[in-house]
Amino acid sequence: MSVINDYILKDRGYSNYENTVDLPRHRWYYYKEGFSPYLVEKAIESSDIGKDDLIIDPFNGSGTTTLTASVKGYQSIGIEVNPFTSFLSDTKIRNANVKKLKEWREKLIDSSDKGADSPLLKYSTFSQNENLKKWLFNDSVLNSFEGGWQLTDEIKSHDIKKITRLALIVSAVQNCNARRDGKCFRYRPNWEENGLGKESFLQVLSHNLDTIIEDIDKQTITQKANIITGDCRTKLKSKSIQPFKLCVTSPPYLNTFDYTDIYRPELFLGKFVFNNKDLYKLRLKTVRSHIQAKWKKPTQNDFGFLYQQTMTHVNDNIENLMSKNIPMMIQAYFEDIFNILKLLKQKAAKDAQIWLVVSNSAYADKQIPVDLIIGDIGTKAGWYLKEIGVLRHLRKRKTKYSTNVNELRESVVIFSNSKP
Ligand SMILES: C[S@@+](CC[C@H](N)C(=O)[O-])C[C@H]1O[C@@H](n2cnc3c(N)ncnc32)[C@H](O)[C@@H]1O
Repeated sequence: MSVINDYILKDRGYSNYENTVDLPRHRWYYYKEGFSPYLVEKAIESSDIGKDDLIIDPFNGSGTTTLTASVKGYQSIGIEVNPFTSFLSDTKIRNANVKKLKEWREKLIDSSDKGADSPLLKYSTFSQNENLKKWLFNDSVLNSFEGGWQLTDEIKSHDIKKITRLALIVSAVQNCNARRDGKCFRYRPNWEENGLGKESFLQVLSHNLDTIIEDIDKQTITQKANIITGDCRTKLKSKSIQPFKLCVTSPPYLNTFDYTDIYRPELFLGKFVFNNKDLYKLRLKTVRSHIQAKWKKPTQNDFGFLYQQTMTHVNDNIENLMSKNIPMMIQAYFEDIFNILKLLKQKAAKDAQIWLVVSNSAYADKQIPVDLIIGDIGTKAGWYLKEIGVLRHLRKRKTKYSTNVNELRESVVIFSNSKP
């Protein structure tokens, strides 16, 4: 099987999140690593799926798949290991009594205005302290956030509690001194003079609450997705998950990106983790696409010729890798993908399809054809490979380990449970 370079979905924004910024509910939180709801719509259109059929996303992230399915009236399940993103996807599909929500909006702004002592003051890099040159939040942002958060403890409605908490987290992150930039945080230019504090926090909070209220008022979700927090490598074994007809998903890419580290502010703000030990435990549950944890060593390696070629290249060029653990990570990544595709096969209804968005990676100056390797792995797991289509080419930042690879291919790999 070869990759379709002039694919019909190429360069139309299907693999990125940019076109969500104006879409109701999706726009509550900008999730950089998300794909487009239009991709999910396309997959629904292209598969023979009825309203009683189930859609699943084992790497649900911000919940693009589950929100799109819910809006369109399909049953869906999303599994997500990161408790913040899982909370986000679960909150975006909530309805609420708008009158009550508006009442809480006022109280929330009052409480944030009064503020309270944040437990994150002086903790790690979260706020100013004598040992730091840079800190993520100015004290008054954290205290306003905490004032609002403490009020949410009093909210009886589960829906309103979650919605207001999400608005608080998003508003705090918008008042962070640094911005996410790829795998790290980059401090905003002149961040020390940017004046981020209580006033800017309250302003953003009011705006975010208004947007949320407007969307909830306009759009009622009738078919709420089932959001499961946890590691899909184990959760997919659960008997409670019924056979699915369509899986639209995007696993972490093979690029050493650590989703627990990059969403650290949200995880701490939302009290999903309380210390670095909690964060590390979470990291161990993520797919092995990074080297920040001492996970179990992989044992399987029968993933086809392209995989073998990749492993030979990285092992022969170990001195040109940023870490000597990269070959093991690559093996572990494909082992995880293989096991997940096998579990999905066991849960697949007749004629089920998987739409899997992935990107190639570069190691030791060579592009690793992740899409094609996953094509081989899926076939080994019992799926029929339908097609691999290029969604776009991503410009690659040059690093000292990869000076010759200028762009990486992002593709959708489509598998079917029945012979084409
Ligand atoms: C590329 S993102 C998915 C984005 C999603 N398509 C969206 O539009 O928001 C990959 C997600 O997989 C999650 N993840 C990593 N390891 C996981 C695991 N073992 N089980 C479930 N989710 C996992 C990450 O936390 C991340 O949210």
